[in-house]
Amino acid sequence: ITVTPGRPGPAIAPTMYGVFFEDINNAADGGLYAELVQNRSFEFGPADNRTYTPLTAWQQTATGGATGTLQVVDDAERLNTRNRNHLRLALAGTGSGAARFGIVNSGYGAGMALREGARHDFSVWARTDAAAGTPLTVELRTADGTAVSAPLGITVRGDRWTKYTGTLTSRLTTTSGRLAVTAAGSGTLRLDMVSLFPRDTYKGRPNGLREDLAEKIAALKPGFLRFPGGCLVNTGSHQAYEAPNWERRRSYQWKDTIGPVEQRAVNANFWGYHQSYGLGYYEYFQFAEDIGAMPLPVVPALVTGCGENKVTDDPALLERHIQDTLDLIEFANGPVTSEWGRKRAAMGHPKPFGLTHLGVGNEENLPDAFFTRFTAFREAIAARYPDITVIGNSGPDDSGSVFDRAWQLSRQAGVAMVDEHYYNSPQWFLENNHRYDAYDRHGPKVFLGEYASRDNRFHNALSEAAFMTGLERNADVVRLASYAPLLADVDHTQWRPDMIWFDNHRSWGSTSYEVQKLFMNNTGDRVVPSRATTTPAVSGPITGAVGLSTWATSAAYDDVEVTAADGTALLKDDFSAGDTRWTRTAGRGDWAVRDGAFVQADTAAEDTLVTAGDTGWHDYDLRLKATKKSG
Ligand code: AHR
Repeated sequence: ITVTPGRPGPAIAPTMYGVFFEDINNAADGGLYAELVQNRSFEFGPADNRTYTPLTAWQQTATGGATGTLQVVDDAERLNTRNRNHLRLALAGTGSGAARFGIVNSGYGAGMALREGARHDFSVWARTDAAAGTPLTVELRTADGTAVSAPLGITVRGDRWTKYTGTLTSRLTTTSGRLAVTAAGSGTLRLDMVSLFPRDTYKGRPNGLREDLAEKIAALKPGFLRFPGGCLVNTGSHQAYEAPNWERRRSYQWKDTIGPVEQRAVNANFWGYHQSYGLGYYEYFQFAEDIGAMPLPVVPALVTGCGENKVTDDPALLERHIQDTLDLIEFANGPVTSEWGRKRAAMGHPKPFGLTHLGVGNEENLPDAFFTRFTAFREAIAARYPDITVIGNSGPDDSGSVFDRAWQLSRQAGVAMVDEHYYNSPQWFLENNHRYDAYDRHGPKVFLGEYASRDNRFHNALSEAAFMTGLERNADVVRLASYAPLLADVDHTQWRPDMIWFDNHRSWGSTSYEVQKLFMNNTGDRVVPSRATTTPAVSGPITGAVGLSTWATSAAYDDVEVTAADGTALLKDDFSAGDTRWTRTAGRGDWAVRDGAFVQADTAAEDTLVTAGDTGWHDYDLRLKATKKSG
């Protein structure tokens, strides 16, 4: 191959490639957020997911003949108004000296992943009406109830909420660990925010992140971190989580997610599970800083997308959301003397986080309704913070009238940057390498906030890599790009493909992860356009390692022939009208070779060469011969 470089083209910003974190597939609770206790504040319920109850992941336990009852209550004795439920235990005081009654938490998935010798930070909020106090015993257990840590003894004293803490060290390694909290004596004991964190969180941060997952993200060297979603951001109601309106299924509102964890609101996640907000805005900003990424939050625009298509027509509510967004900028960047800068400092970060970009809205289906509200946000932000880049979006996908209208409005208004999303076949990515070549050089810049080729196989990653060369060639227009989604729990998946997969103790990158890592770790400074030629010369639409993505190009070729290195004919096609060699199988649009030894393609219109019945990816030493049509 001879490569002939041309004159240097556009500069590529070091922030070009980043990551998009959304709490989907258990990405936060049960994933990146290192909390091991599931349903720590007894707030789970059918409003989050119809299979949930306030005792999801909890079981009663008793030893030595102890008895009692336990009940989750939302009464005037609650921990605080945002943390509504707590567990009330009525201890009967029965049984022998070792009698204890209490609860066991089973964590996420198969249980808590405990490592021999690893230390864990336990905490609980508790109160008791027993005059002499209530002795608690806290221990790590295996699934069959065997204790695997020394017991941690705590005496709860007084009938007002107090936080108790301690350390537990596991004596063995298990992936199905449990946490047991048991009490002796009689009286009413109340518990809330029962929490267990591994001591080894990412960079040792309290209320921190699971190390292996955070390290995998950090290893990408992302230029930016877009958070917290996606459909998670703008769907649901736009009311605040306040009395008397404690409604679940609200849009993601950043003020719900900061401050002491026991005072944060909770929410029903758009993806069908409970959201604790333990991983909140402060933690996102901190993580972005820790991995050297530019923080890029997205706020709701009061028009829902993602199939909901609801418009909130309430000027006061819009005003409040705009003010919340201005407050967010102050939280990120304001001095410690400002109202929201002071809150950031109180959480441990007096220095500003350096916010420069902010998204308003996500995939709204109603471009005109969205744009009116977007404009109100944008004007208010520009008036107070002219240096912040406010990012709009082009709607739910990359085609059709919503997309066109959103771009038209964005161009007319001179929006700085537009967020585009698309999920497509590998073939689409190969065919759309030139997508941005024709974009207006003077119009809004592109933030490709979400994209993926629809599977996690090698050829998906390869097609993404090929596509990314087109993004780089157009780095003067495409300023930011992030694959989506980032994380997925193998036992709790709402969306695939995903970049990084995990269970309760392991994590691994997909082939797409490797491609992202390659590009992010080797981002060039400048595009140098080049021309490549091969011997023998293959031109036209034949591209890729073996050129097999050309089968559909019957307009260009008369004959295409593929042989193995030893000369065995594998495929031959003259693309004649009466050709019956290719058959389309029902349903998934697969192509197959009629006579059998080799079939190809497992998704529409793509041409992976595989052995019949085998959908894996293989290396073949292939010879490709194609006869170009005359004229
Ligand atoms: O990345 C998963 C989802 O895809 C996002 O929530 C949404 O923005 C898009 O439709």
